[in-house]
Amino acid sequence: MSEDPTAAPLRTAVIVGSTRETRAGDTIGRWFAALAADRDDHVIDLLDLAEWEFPARRTDTPDSAVTAFTRRLARADGFVVVTPEYNRSFPAPLKQAIDYGFDEWRAKPVAFVSYGYRWAGRYAVEQLRPVFTELHAVTLRDGLHLDLLDGPPDAPGDGSADDRRRVAHQVLDHLSWWGLTLREGRAARPYAG
Ligand SMILES: Cc1cc2nc3c(=O)[nH]c(=O)nc-3n(C[C@H](O)[C@H](O)[C@H](O)COP(=O)(O)O)c2cc1C
Repeated sequence: MSEDPTAAPLRTAVIVGSTRETRAGDTIGRWFAALAADRDDHVIDLLDLAEWEFPARRTDTPDSAVTAFTRRLARADGFVVVTPEYNRSFPAPLKQAIDYGFDEWRAKPVAFVSYGYRWAGRYAVEQLRPVFTELHAVTLRDGLHLDLLDGPPDAPGDGSADDRRRVAHQVLDHLSWWGLTLREGRAARPYAG
């Protein structure tokens, strides 16, 4: 009998896209990963790009860190990309990491958690969408967008913390739906790309 693709929780990779010293991305990424890990429908794999020693220049034969990273991408059914906004776009180390994968992204959903000032990282998200479209991934319409002026995502006594948690769970609900649906689809028939 074949394995029921809807039975197991979604394997969700949370990718922390900022590697900057004294970055905010660390706190935000870990907060989101912990919130997601408390749910029954996601098994979280935290991929913090600051912890990976990728080569400075892309090599022709795959580097061991790159191979290990793409294996982790391959195991995931869906992704949450946690991104800051740098000059209306997303950080270079995130692009480098995305470009290491190819089939690993294919026919899988990608949700976004963004942060910045004023537009809360939305410009970075809109720049990421065509990148993932090129890779045949499906980007989710709604993300979680955090204005850094509001303080840390779980700031005690801040009324909007509840609101952030509510939106975060909504994003995870959507990711769960797309993740399970596409996992079933990939199991039922090979992707046409
Ligand atoms: C090079 C650079 C460019 C930035 N450009 C923007 C920007 O275009 N829009 C914005 O809202 N914030 C911008 N910021 C502020 C960042 O949103 C803020 O520093 C944030 O903490 C960066 O994420 P990180 O701390 O995880 O690296 C920029 C920061 C840096 C370092």
